[in-house]
Amino acid sequence: MCGIIGATSSRSVGKILIKGLQLMEYRGYDSAGIALNQKEQVFRLRALGKVSNLEEMMVEHKPKAKTGIAHTRWATHGEPSEDNAHPHGSNDEVYIVHNGIIENHESIRARLKKEGYKIISQTDSELIAHLIHFYKQKLGKTTQAMIEATKELKGAYSIAVIDKDKKGKVFAARQKSPLLIGRGIEENFVASDPLAIASVAEGFYLLEDGDFAEISKDKIKIFDETSKEVQRNETLIEATATATSRGGYKHFMEKEIYEQPESVGNTINGRLGENDVLNNIFGLGSSDAFKEVKRIQFVACGTSLHAAKTARKWFEDICETPCYIDFASEYRYRNPLVEENTLFVSISQSGETADTLAALEYAKSKEYLGAVSICNVPTSTMARDADWKMFTNAGPEIGVASTKAFTTQLAALLMLAISIAKSQDINKDKRAEATQDLRNTPSLLQEAFALKADIDQITENIASKNNALYLGRGMFFSIAQEGALKLKEISYIHAEAYPAGELKHGPLALVDDKIPVVALAPEDSLVEKLLSNLEEVKARGGTLYVFGNAKSKIEIKRGKFIKMPECGTYNAPIVYTVPLQLLAYEVACHRGTDLDQPRNLAKSVTVE
Ligand code: F6R
Repeated sequence: MCGIIGATSSRSVGKILIKGLQLMEYRGYDSAGIALNQKEQVFRLRALGKVSNLEEMMVEHKPKAKTGIAHTRWATHGEPSEDNAHPHGSNDEVYIVHNGIIENHESIRARLKKEGYKIISQTDSELIAHLIHFYKQKLGKTTQAMIEATKELKGAYSIAVIDKDKKGKVFAARQKSPLLIGRGIEENFVASDPLAIASVAEGFYLLEDGDFAEISKDKIKIFDETSKEVQRNETLIEATATATSRGGYKHFMEKEIYEQPESVGNTINGRLGENDVLNNIFGLGSSDAFKEVKRIQFVACGTSLHAAKTARKWFEDICETPCYIDFASEYRYRNPLVEENTLFVSISQSGETADTLAALEYAKSKEYLGAVSICNVPTSTMARDADWKMFTNAGPEIGVASTKAFTTQLAALLMLAISIAKSQDINKDKRAEATQDLRNTPSLLQEAFALKADIDQITENIASKNNALYLGRGMFFSIAQEGALKLKEISYIHAEAYPAGELKHGPLALVDDKIPVVALAPEDSLVEKLLSNLEEVKARGGTLYVFGNAKSKIEIKRGKFIKMPECGTYNAPIVYTVPLQLLAYEVACHRGTDLDQPRNLAKSVTVE
């Protein structure tokens, strides 16, 4: 959701900024731009579309400068256009890049117009440049001007600024939007993601909400919201080059699908005992606190929400705990009634999703037993805000469509269910079975990759259609929802998931020989019922692609039965996810979409 970067160095920074943008392109790719503080003036280039377009312009112009800022955009206010592309400038003096949303932009726009500012773009971001310029005229100092300007902003922002009159300096501010400083050798950086500067920074300072920073090549000054200079602890962040390269795969998504045995291994590693999870795997004191849990409230978005929906059955089964599940974007607007001893659980790959963070903040004002976060990015806001947490350790997920984040979230949620049951000393046998299933999951995921050959046989037919139906029952309905989401977001085929029993209540009307029906048929207590539902599809001439096992093998004239590896009760949903990811991936490749960066989307949705 927009990536911002700034650099000040004893060497030329153009290439560093472009490389940083490329590593953050997953955050948005509607336009890209750069502003470099040169001797006489600020040199700015902006290009529509991907960073590679900007890179080509850079080759043509060959600008040189030792200080600069850059931006890759996911459009919110104003269509993708050159005028709306960042960096935005004011009076050829102050240039800014911004990530976030300024909620009171209309009143600021009106005020600045009255002050005589000519506003060129439709963005809320341009206003920040003018506001800083306005206060700089009054106060003289850029940092002071930023402090005053940001006092007027309502909403979320991370900003990096250069000023024509302050050569060698980058200014930055953070409010509810990720931003960190990178310390290098004779150079310093600011970025919204450590990946962007991992190859040049030796250490990192995570800014807190309300912080400002002023960096030059040999100095980093950080101020808190009261304008007092403060020290933030230096943090080491592991962000290796292998994590950010495709490593021989065609796409990041493909790489991330095939990484899943290792990623899930990293999620469970060091957290399992022989027949149980270890104590306090969600943080100190968590095992004691979990003794009191009577209910759970989950909030998340998109794929992470599907993880919660899938996991509900584990919580009911292993720790006998009723669960409520909400879209994070809806939760706080329904005035939820919180029953005693309800645990609040937020799930997020990025830990920066604005809707989920807002839900967590809201939950803290309510009488919950405490807040647990399951998240993949240890430096994220969510990781800092929760009482207890588990990092999924999946490593950076770059493909916009979530894959390894989902399966590792499921592993973490299963551990949460076991952990609560252990604290409450119930269902010992189920805990032992679930622990064993977790241990077996990486090798089963590996086995599931062998299904690629079967999937190749059905890819073309699905790729040639405009709609698809996904069916499942119980937990596998949520896995079907996740499969449908993967297909639609990267192949642009409209896909809907239904609990198979719902088919006859309406969606069956869609079934004909033109709509492929993908069904998940694991060997569980609902398999007989599911098979009857599939007969309803067959009877209407539907094309069926069924993923199942020996017990669920049905004769299919039109379509294909694909045999899954033999799974355990508790790891089957995790393993059944893989063929649906592969199917979506192969179909999207067949249709030739830009599947690591699908249209209109971005990873890490930091706006509400
Ligand atoms: C889908 C996808 C999104 C995210 C959602 C939440 O493939 O990636 O639906 O799952 O935007 O993101 P996080 O998990 O970062 O909170």
